[in-house]
Amino acid sequence: MIKELIFASRNKGKIAEVRDMLAPLGIMVKSALDLDLPDVEETGTTFAENSLLKSQTIAKALGLPCMADDSGLCVDALDGAPGVYSARYAPERDFNKGMDKLLAAMAQSADKSRLAHFSCVISLSWPDGHYELFEGRVDGHIAATKMFGDEGFGYDPLFIPVGYEISFSQMSHEEKNKISHRGRAMQKFKTYLEKLQG
Ligand code: IMP
Repeated sequence: MIKELIFASRNKGKIAEVRDMLAPLGIMVKSALDLDLPDVEETGTTFAENSLLKSQTIAKALGLPCMADDSGLCVDALDGAPGVYSARYAPERDFNKGMDKLLAAMAQSADKSRLAHFSCVISLSWPDGHYELFEGRVDGHIAATKMFGDEGFGYDPLFIPVGYEISFSQMSHEEKNKISHRGRAMQKFKTYLEKLQG
């Protein structure tokens, strides 16, 4: 029976979403911020590689099972950028600047499509090297200007999911979690955990 899970993330937005999603299973999340864990360098070229790098490094260091999330925004007109570099794409990790940079890059692109998707790979690693991967994706488009709401983080004010006219930032946590890349990956992860929990 899992009562507590280590989440190798210092991203407050991700931590809040993962906490909300695991609370109904009675699982408490301890993040890299709570435990003051070191940052793991993301040297991979795919979401799966980076997710595994983070969960495996911390699982081995602590001798405990650990989960990680690697995610990002992929824009068709920018050949999938910023993708795995989404966090680093924002100058000084300031996402207001990151969103301006993205809109400027799209304005320069000959491809006028505004199609985009968010991807997420959740990994769960054990200290013995065994691991599981859970993937999620949400399709949508990039708004012409930032659409701020009360919620969200990162590129949320720019992303409008298919079937909606509001951005992720203008949705409640609950509404976003139902359809988001992370929500979809977490659904698969939760199904797996429910089986483990018996
Ligand atoms: P990493 O997975 O730590 O490399 O960071 C992923 C980056 O992608 C985050 O810092 C955000 O900029 C962006 N990102 C991932 N998921 C979301 C989301 O749900 N909303 C907005 N931005 C996101």
